[in-house]
Amino acid sequence: MNAIAEPVAPVAPTTPDPLDFAERQDGRFVVYEFRGKTFRLDREKARAKKDAKRVINGPRTPELNVLPLKYPEAYRIYKQMKANHWEPDVIDMTKDCTQWNSGALKPKERWIIEMGVGYFSSAEGIVGDSVLHAIEDNLTAAELKHAVLRWIAEESIHMDSLLHIIGSLDIDQDEVTAKFNDIPSIRAKNEFITRHMPELKRGLDLTVVENQRKFAKALFGITQVMEGTQFYGLFAMILSLYRQNKMTGVGQMFQYTLRDESNHIALGRYLLTELIRENPLIWTAEFREELRAFMREGVALEKDFVRDCLPEDGVGMTQKEFLDYVDYNADRRLTSLGLDPLGTVTTNPFPWLDEVIFLKKEKNFFETRVTEYQTSGSVKNTAEDDLV
Ligand SMILES: [Fe+2]
Ligand SMILES: [Fe+2]
Repeated sequence: MNAIAEPVAPVAPTTPDPLDFAERQDGRFVVYEFRGKTFRLDREKARAKKDAKRVINGPRTPELNVLPLKYPEAYRIYKQMKANHWEPDVIDMTKDCTQWNSGALKPKERWIIEMGVGYFSSAEGIVGDSVLHAIEDNLTAAELKHAVLRWIAEESIHMDSLLHIIGSLDIDQDEVTAKFNDIPSIRAKNEFITRHMPELKRGLDLTVVENQRKFAKALFGITQVMEGTQFYGLFAMILSLYRQNKMTGVGQMFQYTLRDESNHIALGRYLLTELIRENPLIWTAEFREELRAFMREGVALEKDFVRDCLPEDGVGMTQKEFLDYVDYNADRRLTSLGLDPLGTVTTNPFPWLDEVIFLKKEKNFFETRVTEYQTSGSVKNTAEDDLV
C-alpha cells in the first residue's frame, strides 16, 4: 500500500478577488471602469435600464451586455469561474492506469471510483440540463444569465472529465451505466432532484407567487442540496484516495470539479438571495420549512448512497465520519441562507479537504499547465467560504 502523502500545505484564507470595477458619474454619463477599459453610458438611460432589471419577470433583451451592472456579485463570480478554468484532457492518467490494471487497489477502492464515474455521469448531465432549462431560461437580468451560462459550460467540462476517466481506464461505459442506473440509492437521488423540473421547463408563469416558490425550490435543490450536499460524500472519498497517492489523475479532476462546484453553490445562494429580496412574498415561514424538509429528504437519500459506496470503514476514514460530513454540509448550506440547521454536527470531520481543494501552483506539470490557463484571478483568491 502506498504511504499517505503529505497533505497539500494550507493556504492562508484571503479575501475574495475584488471585482476590479468602479462606477462614477461624469456629467450626463455614468462611467464604468474595469479590465483597464472605460465604458461610458448615458446616465438616464443606464439608470432606467438598471431600475428595470429583475432576477425574474424583468425585460428580456437578446443582448447579454452586463452593463449597467445591477448584480455585481454575479459578475464577480463569473470572473472567479473564468480564472479557475481547466481542461480535463491535460491531466496525466498514466499512474491511474497502472494502479487500475495492476491490482494495486483494494476492491472497495475500485468500487468508489466506479461509483464516482457511475453517479456523476448522470448527475452532471442532470445539473447541466436543469440549470439551462429550469434556471437560465427563467432569469431575465443579463449579468445573471451571463454567469449562469458559464456555470452550464463548466458542467460540460465535468462531463468531459468523466469521459477522460472512462477512456483512460478503458471502462466499459455501457456496463457502468447499466450497473449504476439500477442502484436504488442513485435512482432515488436523481428522481428526487428532478421531480419538479418538467413543469419548470414548460415556462411557468413566474408572476404567480406559488410558481416563484417552485423556481426558488429548484434553485435551492440543485445548488444547495445536490451540488452543495449530495456531491460532497463521494468527493471526500475520492479525494481521500488522492491524498493516499491513489488514482491521482482522477483525484485531480475531482479536486478541480469541487472547486467549480464551490462557485456554483455561491452563485445559487446569491441568485436565491436576490430573488427573495425582490419577491419577499416567497419567503414565508411555511416555505422555509418546506426547504428544510427538502434538505432533510436529500440528506437521508445521501446517507443511503454513502452506505452503498462505503458499506464498511475504509479509504482511511470511517463510515460514521462520512455520514457526519453529510449532516455538516447540509447545515452549512441551510444556515448560509438564514435557515435553521437540521442537526448537531457543527465540526467538519474532514478539515484536510479544505486544504486539498487549494492548489499549489508549482506542485507538478499538471498544475503548471493549469496555472497557464488562469488569467487575472488566482485560485488563492477564492473566498474560503466559497470553497467549502
Ligand atoms: Fe458539476
Ligand atoms: Fe456544478
